[in-house]
Amino acid sequence: MLTQEKNELLTRVGPGTPMGNLLRRYWMPIAGVSEFDKRATKPVRLMGEDLVLYKDLSGNFGLIDRHCPHRRADLSYGMAEPGGLRCNYHGWAFDASGQCIEQPFEDTAFPERNAKCRVKTKAYPVGVRGGMLWAYMGPLPAPCLPDWEPFSRPNVFSQIVLSDLPCNWFQCQENSIDPVHFEWMHDNWGKRLREGFGATYAPKHLKLDFDEFEFGFVYKRIREGIDETHPFWTIGRVALWPNCFFLGDHFEWRVPVDDENTLSVLWKLTHVPADREPYVQESIPTWQGPVFDEHGGWITSHVMNQDFLAWAGQGRIADRTQEHLGASDRGIVMVRRRFFEELDKLAAGEEPKGLIRDPARNVSVKLPVANNDTTLRGMTTEQIMKEPRRRVHLTSFILQAGQPEEVKRQMSQAMGVDMGEFTGLPPIMPRATVDPGSSPG
Ligand code: FES
Ligand SMILES: [Fe+2]
Repeated sequence: MLTQEKNELLTRVGPGTPMGNLLRRYWMPIAGVSEFDKRATKPVRLMGEDLVLYKDLSGNFGLIDRHCPHRRADLSYGMAEPGGLRCNYHGWAFDASGQCIEQPFEDTAFPERNAKCRVKTKAYPVGVRGGMLWAYMGPLPAPCLPDWEPFSRPNVFSQIVLSDLPCNWFQCQENSIDPVHFEWMHDNWGKRLREGFGATYAPKHLKLDFDEFEFGFVYKRIREGIDETHPFWTIGRVALWPNCFFLGDHFEWRVPVDDENTLSVLWKLTHVPADREPYVQESIPTWQGPVFDEHGGWITSHVMNQDFLAWAGQGRIADRTQEHLGASDRGIVMVRRRFFEELDKLAAGEEPKGLIRDPARNVSVKLPVANNDTTLRGMTTEQIMKEPRRRVHLTSFILQAGQPEEVKRQMSQAMGVDMGEFTGLPPIMPRATVDPGSSPG
């Protein structure tokens, strides 16, 4: 349980808030590069600020205030130019530093005044990594944009899924250090949804452990049917600091839009079967993942959709003055404590956790990977197809509902098999006979 004051410290992200200041020290993924194949601008709300992300006609990206500094028109309807973005109202143009570079009437009628020099709008650096566009909103110089190892893995098909969630970012991130929810939300409840009452229960969690490392935390689990030699215990899974979950073949960022909204950014790779190598992906597709069904209810069929409804179900901002933490929440307590300590460090002028400043260090940075045994790396099509719990990863997209037909087609081509709809994980065997390593998330 937290005091109201502490709950606000963790959850408020607007300009000038302590957590807002801390999160602004980290690069945040905000869009897919491939979204700009067909558009030049995208309105973006990030940590309580309304911005526009654009690609200019030279192929460079910029992120500037959404409202034109002239008379506040909406620059997401602006026109891309070779060196920046032009407002569609009176034609003022801005470069990626926010500098006004053209005022068509003023430049024509009163060129000697050079009035544009005195107009500059808010602008933030944009980075490109893993087919994603990233924003940095903190003080300069910016740290390195992390080059996590999976971004350069060969022979993979990657995709990016964006979803808008109506809740605060921190309750989403707490999920990254919450191992027991897999057993209940994804295994047992998922099975109940498909099979109704009477379904057998999945292997129980018996023991948990949590460690901190340079780039975040790992949680470790023993479930019925595995022992302490299993990678889920010897390596664990990563709650990547400050707002991401890393599971070996995918990242899930919880990007704060404002205090009550979060952008979920999923980056997922799938290894092509060994007999399909070498494979080089030309462009990483980006798609918008729906969260509601046609009746307005939450989609419950896919793994992350289940997570989404849990997070939003905690309320727009979870009221942590009303919670009752249990023994399974030890990791959550550790992460909260770390955030409070980092807020103190920042206030004292110290560098916060996990930033990479040395470009030589920022090359294919490795993170702990516990689930090599559940990805398809190094396996042939024939081997994968023999194992139902692996086959499902090759023949469908289990993480989020709504994969567009075009992405399905691209993935089918890469994998060499027909992709179908995900209709649920193959049955988990009753307790103690299953390899819980095959759990999806
Ligand atoms: S409002 Fe943008 S140019 Fe006038
Ligand atoms: Fe989950």
